[in-house]
Amino acid sequence: MSRLPRFLRAFLLPMAKNRFSKAWLDQHRNDPYVKQAQARGYRSRAAFKLIEIDQQDKLIQPGQIVVDLGSTPGAWSQVLRERLATGSGGIRGRIIALDLLPMDPIADVEFIQGDFREDDALTALASALGGARADLIVSDMAPNLSGVGLADAARMADLIELAADFAVDHLKPEGALLVKCFHGSGYSQSVERFKRTFVKVSPRKPKASRDKSAETYLLGRGLKR
Ligand SMILES: C[S@@+](CC[C@H](N)C(=O)[O-])C[C@H]1O[C@@H](n2cnc3c(N)ncnc32)[C@H](O)[C@@H]1O
Repeated sequence: MSRLPRFLRAFLLPMAKNRFSKAWLDQHRNDPYVKQAQARGYRSRAAFKLIEIDQQDKLIQPGQIVVDLGSTPGAWSQVLRERLATGSGGIRGRIIALDLLPMDPIADVEFIQGDFREDDALTALASALGGARADLIVSDMAPNLSGVGLADAARMADLIELAADFAVDHLKPEGALLVKCFHGSGYSQSVERFKRTFVKVSPRKPKASRDKSAETYLLGRGLKR
């Protein structure tokens, strides 16, 4: 499209955008995970990614301290809350969630608004933990994509690196870190970083994560001494 004369581009671009948004809307409307999320009251279809990984790996147990990074709109926090629920209305354990964006409150979820790359957010998380170590850290953080592949991959790798650093400082020795990553540039470095930090490293691609998407997850269990 960039080789076309400017007047033609101005004419065609909105049509291409409309077609793209229509295709996205159709896909969204017909997506079984979107329908299930609506039926079960989850804030987004992302809930099913964590549910599926947890079914396989049994990560979430009542009584745990869990940190949810990149939590907004809150579907993973909702799943975490369900798993820690006591049956008498509360939870056993703690859920500390953080996001750049605001998040509508979820009962028993302690929310911090902040940028995980900034010291202020790390200090706020550390002070919420109050010296305790987490059993589980999950990160569904993804940078806003600029469309420039290498720059986006570098931002993603940076978030993963920071999440691994955070795990070293704040995870129990037998704890687990689950992070979102993208296949492609930077992926193998993230796997290497995980292998240096964790005893066991496993890639995960839940069915709820679209086949066409480069999105995938890395799970690290047990901190190396
Ligand atoms: C895919 S969404 C998370 C969806 C969430 N897991 C759920 O189930 O609702 C990614 C989130 O990462 C957050 N994010 C991206 N970069 C961040 C950063 N540097 N610090 C904190 N949050 C960040 C975004 O604001 C966005 O809400």
